[in-house]
Amino acid sequence: MAQPYDVGKAVSNMLTNTGKAEDYQGWDLVKKPGVYKIGIPTLSGTGAESSRTCVLSNKRKNIKMGMNSHFSVYNELILDPNLTESVPFNQYFYSAMDTYIHCIESLNGKLKNVFSDSFSNSALDICKEVFDSNDPMSDKNREKIMLASYFGGVAIANSMVGIIHPFSAGLSSVFGSHHCVSNCVVMLAMEEFYPTEVNEFNNFVEKHNIFLPKITEQILNESILQKLYDATLVHEKPLSNALGDDFKTILTFDKVSELFHKILS
Ligand SMILES: [Fe+2]
Repeated sequence: MAQPYDVGKAVSNMLTNTGKAEDYQGWDLVKKPGVYKIGIPTLSGTGAESSRTCVLSNKRKNIKMGMNSHFSVYNELILDPNLTESVPFNQYFYSAMDTYIHCIESLNGKLKNVFSDSFSNSALDICKEVFDSNDPMSDKNREKIMLASYFGGVAIANSMVGIIHPFSAGLSSVFGSHHCVSNCVVMLAMEEFYPTEVNEFNNFVEKHNIFLPKITEQILNESILQKLYDATLVHEKPLSNALGDDFKTILTFDKVSELFHKILS
């Protein structure tokens, strides 16, 4: 499972690089530039229009990971907020929060820098302005969120995400849940890592009466928890960005299990 414009990037890369897409899931593994690609977002928030990744699910390896490469950046973009007019409100929120989460993770990571911080802060200011308002989907606000999405993508392309994305990827790998919904559900259990931001996120959810779906009805037995642990901890770079190189001493199997119980409760 991947977003259409992530697929566009992957197809572009695979038209000029030999082997399988899974050979390029990771960091800087793509050898040659792909074919010229133009991105036209119809949803705002994922930042795929400006990021250097295209996230793909690998069922065989039970991982969800991108082709992180300069060659995964679109050559040209058409950003038209008219295209997001008919997006259902909850989906609009989940996707916009992907940008919010990209930026808070970037700002709290050790790879933060002046360049990425300026994009993160601009995107966060827009998110706050839009979701503090009573009409986040007004013409003006859709235009602003489309720009915030682009900024958030630039921010993480020049820094890195943190803890929320690996847990979200774990959920998506094991249960097939969508990226932006998974992020929002994970966010609810992240207050010990991002206290101020989780509080602000909760205020947005409450103000706009957002529906956060239950990801699964399955009982979290040892086997499922092991899959979730493996699919989360495989994202070493973001976890190390957030918690340091010894992140495994913090995110033990028991700790990760506790967090997934909270996320899925
Ligand atoms: Fe994301």
